[in-house]
Amino acid sequence: MIPPKTVRDILDAVRIEEVVEDFVTLRKRGVNLLGLCPFHNEKTPSFNVSPARNIFKCFGCGKGGDAVTFLMEHESFTYPDALRWLARKYNIEIEEVERTPEQIAEIQFSDSLYIVNDFGLRHFQEQLFDTDEGKSVALSYFKQRGLREETIRAFGLGYAPDLRDLLVQRAKAAGHSLDLLKKVGLCSADGTRDFFRGRVMFAIHNMSGKVAAFAGRTMSSDKTIPKYINSPETEIYVKNKTLYGAFQAKKAIRKQDECILVEGYMDVISLYQAGIENVVASSGTSLTEGQLQLIKRNTANLKILYDGDPAGIKAALRGLDLALEQDLNVKIVLLPNGEDPDSFVQKIGSEAFGEFIVKQAKDFILFKTQLLLQETQGDPIKKSALIKDIMGSIAKIPDPIKRGVYLKECATLLDASEEVLYAETNKMITAGLRKKAEKESRQPGAASDSPAAHPSPDMLEPNIAVSVRERPAQQGDEYKERHIIELLVKFGGSVLQNENISVAEYILTDIEESLNAFDNSLYGRIAQECYALLLDHKVVTQEHFLRHESKEIHDLAVDILADSSRWEYSPNWEKKGFPLQNQPLPEFNFDKETREGVDRFRLSKLDKLCKSINPARIKTADEAGDLINLERFMRIQKKVQEARNDLAKRLGRVVI
Ligand code: GTP
Ligand code: MN
Repeated sequence: MIPPKTVRDILDAVRIEEVVEDFVTLRKRGVNLLGLCPFHNEKTPSFNVSPARNIFKCFGCGKGGDAVTFLMEHESFTYPDALRWLARKYNIEIEEVERTPEQIAEIQFSDSLYIVNDFGLRHFQEQLFDTDEGKSVALSYFKQRGLREETIRAFGLGYAPDLRDLLVQRAKAAGHSLDLLKKVGLCSADGTRDFFRGRVMFAIHNMSGKVAAFAGRTMSSDKTIPKYINSPETEIYVKNKTLYGAFQAKKAIRKQDECILVEGYMDVISLYQAGIENVVASSGTSLTEGQLQLIKRNTANLKILYDGDPAGIKAALRGLDLALEQDLNVKIVLLPNGEDPDSFVQKIGSEAFGEFIVKQAKDFILFKTQLLLQETQGDPIKKSALIKDIMGSIAKIPDPIKRGVYLKECATLLDASEEVLYAETNKMITAGLRKKAEKESRQPGAASDSPAAHPSPDMLEPNIAVSVRERPAQQGDEYKERHIIELLVKFGGSVLQNENISVAEYILTDIEESLNAFDNSLYGRIAQECYALLLDHKVVTQEHFLRHESKEIHDLAVDILADSSRWEYSPNWEKKGFPLQNQPLPEFNFDKETREGVDRFRLSKLDKLCKSINPARIKTADEAGDLINLERFMRIQKKVQEARNDLAKRLGRVVI
């Protein structure tokens, strides 16, 4: 663990523009810097960096955050790794004193596994490139399959000759422990024989490019021996959290905002070589949740290429509801009979292949509906089972708008009433939610949401529904509530003139009685959380929100701090001769803004009391002949009305 003091030192030293400029070319644009967004494809720059606020924000794709977020997104770093990277950049020494001996041992153990695998990689590469047998048998095999030398190197391909214990002998001579060789599966359990013999080798990398495992493919067409054999699972190789090719593909996946999924190692390599680099393989198994999360971290768009027969595809589709649950947009591409991605791209060339997968891509749900519909052949029982099946898939989609679109299209395809389908999915959603609630109540503390340090991205909740750009229409008092939250995020820690208390203290003590009455639950949660911080004698800082464990709150803070209308530089100002300095910066207005914001918020809450809550109570008491309460509520109404009118007058509003 990095000590909190060091974390603060690092964060204090960081200049967002210096970090981003290591990866993106930026031009000065007024007070900000502008460049092409590294997270999506664009021709005109909409990626803004604000040195003053120490954050970045892309107005094209909506990504934003501070330097740590940038590194986590751009480099797929965990939170601690991003901090370490920054510490190195700014020459800050990290004394990781708080690691327990167990943790240190664990890290050293993983490191030692990587070291042995690295030895294995170099051994297999040497056998491939630097021996006569390797060159004539294995290198020629790869070349005959269309691979170029640079590709062979980029993917860490190699060769294991058909010898009893060549690797074991070499490893021992180089001082590697036999135990570790056994552990990573490079030799037999008794340590006398090499595990991979007479095979071409594929290195399997983890996300940061270290070799986690190997696969070896036989070059013989003998059907009685397994085509591929793999390293066993270890601490550094967890199969259901590994995607083959992900390390090589991750930049392209982000850039294209799409991940292409294929089945085989050769498919990945072949497409990559053809310039289609955003491709990974599940290695012959169906997708797991861990693999989907890896994808989700880089893009929400998944395109799956299938080369099987209809029966095989149908089985594969079954696993894909998991992808819908992750809110991935899934498309399916069927390849022509008898072709896999590798053979097909080699046959028709990369350009035609690229066009093919764009043209043939079908939405997963519609594809599934059509495929299954062919089989029902008018049989009503089969058809009703099919409808249940499809609605089960649709119910997994977290986004209600997307669900609605699918329901409409499927109603047409299935020739069924939209209302009936709608009711059916709603039933399934409710049942699903109930199940989930039951599960959660059985694991107390699982869904806690307390403010804490940034978690590693693996721990981030994948499915926080409201993204900043899709903010739903605001209702009721939400505008005023939003304003309060904006003030808290932007100036919470600033001190109000003449009052000598912070903005957060001013706001929260003033609206204390309404803390539970927020219409928007997220805003309410933030207000209550800030209140708890104050009770704890803590300062409400921008950092608190930017570092927030809840992605929802983090995104909201970035959105607020990057509010485009306030800090987007208008070239017209300069043309018209208004230097930017003459524009009052919002920072200098927070005094007035805070007081007014609080007043407006309170006014709307008082309005509600006056106009609906109290009249309703009065009416009920009146109808029930409850004179005591009737009198009481009317007195309250009068007081509330007075307070409301005072407030309205102060705000210059008309008093009704
Ligand atoms: P080529 O036949 O060389 O084109 O390889 P491929 O990668 O296209 O293989 P294929 O389409 O037959 O299989 C897809 C994936 O399933 C492979 O890349 C492997 O990950 C996995 N696979 C196939 N056969 C075996 C096997 O015998 N054992 C294991 N463990 N995995 C296999
Ligand atoms: Mn193949």
